[in-house]
Amino acid sequence: MMRLEDISHIGVLGGGVMGGGIAQIMSALAGYRVTVRDLTQEILDDTRDEVTERKWGVKRAVERGKLGFDQAIRAIENVSYTLNLEDLADCDLIIEAVPEQLELKQAVFKELDGVVKPECIFASNTSGFVIKEIARDVSEERKRNFVGMHFSNPVPVMKMLEVITTDESDPEVAETCKAVGEAAGRAVSMVKDKEGTYGFILNRVFAAAAREAKQIVDDGLASPEDVDKAMITGRNWPAAFFGSRGGIGKQW
Ligand SMILES: NC(=O)c1ccc[n+]([C@@H]2O[C@H](COP(=O)([O-])OP(=O)(O)OC[C@H]3O[C@@H](n4cnc5c(N)ncnc54)[C@H](O)[C@@H]3O)[C@@H](O)[C@H]2O)c1
Repeated sequence: MMRLEDISHIGVLGGGVMGGGIAQIMSALAGYRVTVRDLTQEILDDTRDEVTERKWGVKRAVERGKLGFDQAIRAIENVSYTLNLEDLADCDLIIEAVPEQLELKQAVFKELDGVVKPECIFASNTSGFVIKEIARDVSEERKRNFVGMHFSNPVPVMKMLEVITTDESDPEVAETCKAVGEAAGRAVSMVKDKEGTYGFILNRVFAAAAREAKQIVDDGLASPEDVDKAMITGRNWPAAFFGSRGGIGKQW
């Protein structure tokens, strides 16, 4: 069972929108060595650029006073980028951020299970698939080491992290993931997964509100603009349902 003090090397599977941000905070804020694996060198070069140079990357964060110089250097020096799955073999925690397709996630975890040391924790950043279904094809031992870690986009800015457990997850593993998240500056909510649902806290609550918003518009009771305006000015939501923006530009 991996405890917080056992975690030193984190793997990130998929260096897209979410994977780059996760690698960035785990190295810059929590000080972990991170290895990102993706499918082409071009994508990996892009991930590196995202972490270092782009809008939410560490250089601009330092310029804006959001990140210390030493933290930025950690993200530049301690993140490796690889095409080889074997480079994740000695990871203590792997966070998967490949596209939102259940079969793909099941397949990549099955493949990882055969390559990575048995005590390594597997976590999926799925937006909403049932974690137990994603874990379907891994070994029984790994199922105890399997949770969801759902981050919010853009990861360097949005502090939310949901740690999702199945009825097979070891509670101590979930605690380790919570502690890792907190080390990376996250505000962690714990939540269980449930068969037949999609989404955990964030996306289920938002989906329910979005359904109501659409219903109000469909019933001809208010315009989309007026629904958005009410939520932005009455609840301080930075953005609402139909594309209107409130203070979203001020979040960083
Ligand atoms: N984008 C968001 O706002 C957001 C927010 C929260 C959660 N998520 C979830 O995070 C996950 C990733 O989303 P994203 O927006 O970062 O997607 P993305 O398409 O930007 O990135 C996915 C990356 O995974 C790579 N990939 C595909 N197969 C792979 C494999 N076998 N091994 C390694 N890499 C592989 C792709 O090449 C791509 O670079 C999804 O499950 C999504 O639902 C997304």
